[in-house]
Amino acid sequence: MTNLKICILGGTGFVGRSLASRLVALGHEVRIITRRRERQKRGLLVLPTLYLVQGDVHNPAVLRQHLQGMDVVINLVGILNERGYRGKEFERVHLELPRKIVNACQEVRVGRLLHMSALGASMEAPSHYLRTKARGEEVVHSAEKNDFNVTSFRPSVIFGPHDSFINRFAWLMRLSPVFFPLACARTRFQPVYVEDVVTAFTHSLEDHHTFGQRYDLCGPEVYTLHELVSYVADRTGLRRRIIDLNDTMSKMQAACLQFIPGKPFSLDNYRSLQIDSVCEKGFPPIFGIQPASLTSIVPTYLVKRPARSEKYSGYRHLGRRDQ
Ligand SMILES: NC(=O)c1ccc[n+]([C@@H]2O[C@H](COP(=O)([O-])OP(=O)(O)OC[C@H]3O[C@@H](n4cnc5c(N)ncnc54)[C@H](OP(=O)(O)O)[C@@H]3O)[C@@H](O)[C@H]2O)c1
Repeated sequence: MTNLKICILGGTGFVGRSLASRLVALGHEVRIITRRRERQKRGLLVLPTLYLVQGDVHNPAVLRQHLQGMDVVINLVGILNERGYRGKEFERVHLELPRKIVNACQEVRVGRLLHMSALGASMEAPSHYLRTKARGEEVVHSAEKNDFNVTSFRPSVIFGPHDSFINRFAWLMRLSPVFFPLACARTRFQPVYVEDVVTAFTHSLEDHHTFGQRYDLCGPEVYTLHELVSYVADRTGLRRRIIDLNDTMSKMQAACLQFIPGKPFSLDNYRSLQIDSVCEKGFPPIFGIQPASLTSIVPTYLVKRPARSEKYSGYRHLGRRDQ
């Protein structure tokens, strides 16, 4: 494999940190553009051949400046919730930003783009999140040319240390004494391990067979949300009675929780959960791996008793703004 110069947008997040570490280990030079350099954990800053630069990725001039001289651009930027309710911020992040990235790549002659979408993204999907992800995917793929090759990835929910799914349910459960009311409990997921997602990205860097492709990424097992939350309760030793809310109550819960700072659950999330997040086929054979199961990985990071520091990190996570 050639040593490449790779710029990651959204590289400071959960997936980005694992991907950046792997790319550095493979000998690539990685540049991450972040909006807030001072907030980043030391983990990223100490990686050799990783350069963290501060900049507003929504500014085309900033994009051109930082993409200049790169071999590959990876776009991981995404939000699960917006500040408003009408989808404007989803459009800005999932649609307008990919458009700016494509333009910048073409202006400074970067020939390769790896783009993160989401399983279930479609123009007809029920939520702003999934519809704008689909539109972003169309934007990047419709820009493909001989000298500009795109691959996109559509994972189900991703798990791994520091994920915001398993860890968030563990934290929420610790806050709920006795009962845990669960919205959309029957929605099905096929969780995929973050390191397997990272393998799909790194494998695709230079493999011509992946050019122009869109890959659904799932783990080996399907779970309902109820089963996942029960598993989290078992692993953490929390005895909670999980109450599956019916559709009306699920919607009401979303309508209320979206007014809490950090929006732990919103109506747009509720709408995303109206469809299952499962794959029709197994993990794409081109990546040459058997995806890891949830039960083989989660016990390595989900602890029985919350450390005090973890409790406060949960508050910080929930209070975090997407912007
Ligand atoms: N995690 C999952 O289960 C999952 C499942 C399916 C798809 N995905 C997709 O995978 C990608 C990565 O997910 P993740 O879990 O790693 O997300 P994450 O931890 O929330 O990280 C997202 C990154 O995007 C940047 N970002 C967030 N809002 C932004 C905004 N308004 N403008 C510019 N940059 C912004 C942040 O960078 P800075 O703050 O440093 O600027 C952050 O590092 C996303 O596109 C997500 O939709 C994730």
